[in-house]
Amino acid sequence: MGRSKISIIGAGNVGATCAHWIATRELGDVVLIDVLEGPAKGKALDLFEATPVFKLDLNIAGGGPNDYDLTAGSDVIVITAGVPRKKDPVTGQFPSRDELVKTNQKIVGEVAREVARRSPEAILIIVSNPLDAMCHVALNESGFPSHRVIGQAGALDTARYKAFLAMELGVSVRDIHGIVLGGHGDEMVPLPRHTSVAGIPVRELVPEDRLQEIIARTRKGGGEIVGLIGVSAWYAPAAGTVEMVEAIVRDQKRVIPSAVLLTGQYGHNGLYIGVPAVLGKGGVEKVIEMQLNDEEKAMLEVSAKAVQSVVGVLGY
Ligand code: NAI
Ligand code: 2OP
Repeated sequence: MGRSKISIIGAGNVGATCAHWIATRELGDVVLIDVLEGPAKGKALDLFEATPVFKLDLNIAGGGPNDYDLTAGSDVIVITAGVPRKKDPVTGQFPSRDELVKTNQKIVGEVAREVARRSPEAILIIVSNPLDAMCHVALNESGFPSHRVIGQAGALDTARYKAFLAMELGVSVRDIHGIVLGGHGDEMVPLPRHTSVAGIPVRELVPEDRLQEIIARTRKGGGEIVGLIGVSAWYAPAAGTVEMVEAIVRDQKRVIPSAVLLTGQYGHNGLYIGVPAVLGKGGVEKVIEMQLNDEEKAMLEVSAKAVQSVVGVLGY
């Protein structure tokens, strides 16, 4: 079997960091495309120049908006193109994820059309915000079946939740097990009832008030980084994305919370939202329907409503 081909559209902070980690894990050949030709070519070249040091066997190419042919025949395409949350230099305010909807709808729509016709069998992983709504855009504009259009958010939100719990308890991140469902917004749904530390229910180890603080911090995890850096995060978002890429190209059947188009599961039909999904070479191979209690169901409903209100802006 030949090497996988992974294209990344948007060679900014998240896209370039995805390329970096895909390279270090030798997941496949990489193509980096950006509306800004020089930076995409330059980052691809710089990264390729690092491969002799670490003895990495892969090709890395970069290009601009007229170089989409480089992406032809990709197995996986990661879409990070868009405008991130940035402080307005005049007002000093940060736009919400949802305010980015119209700008990024246009960008993601164009990108999805460009990549879909050159890689008709590819699996698309959407990263651009507002995430759940941009999955609808990519689905509509690519014409792909929904099991091949997947959003990255739950992998990141779950990683943040686990990181905060590991920090709280002073234990290895490897021993924290848990999951965050719902849309990629402040209404996301971390699930403490399904969280354990090496199998020990988290509520035996963390007092409820601290647990609720950790949940609140997880929900605002994106904003915390924006507040510190001035632009949104990229290391953890790229890590979550590459976790999904790896599950697909290595056909790992990993269970990763991902934004998928629900078709009746969790009481929703035709809405993208974060749920546990089995990811393998077919894309979303299965959606796992958890048995949520009434409180958890109510929280998921609040999150779904928030997603629906943004999806409504798209005008589909
Ligand atoms: P960035 O500004 O560093 O990179 C975005 C890149 O997209 C830029 O290089 C820009 O030139 C490029 N771009 C813009 N229009 C394009 C077009 N039409 N075609 C190709 N490239 C185009 O932003 P960053 O930090 O990499 O974030 C990218 C997106 O991902 C944003 O929408 C951000 O909100 C989102 N994001 C989503 C996360 C998630 O968990 N789903 C986490 C972090 C960021
Ligand atoms: C994050 O959660 C901005 O969605 C991005 O970091």
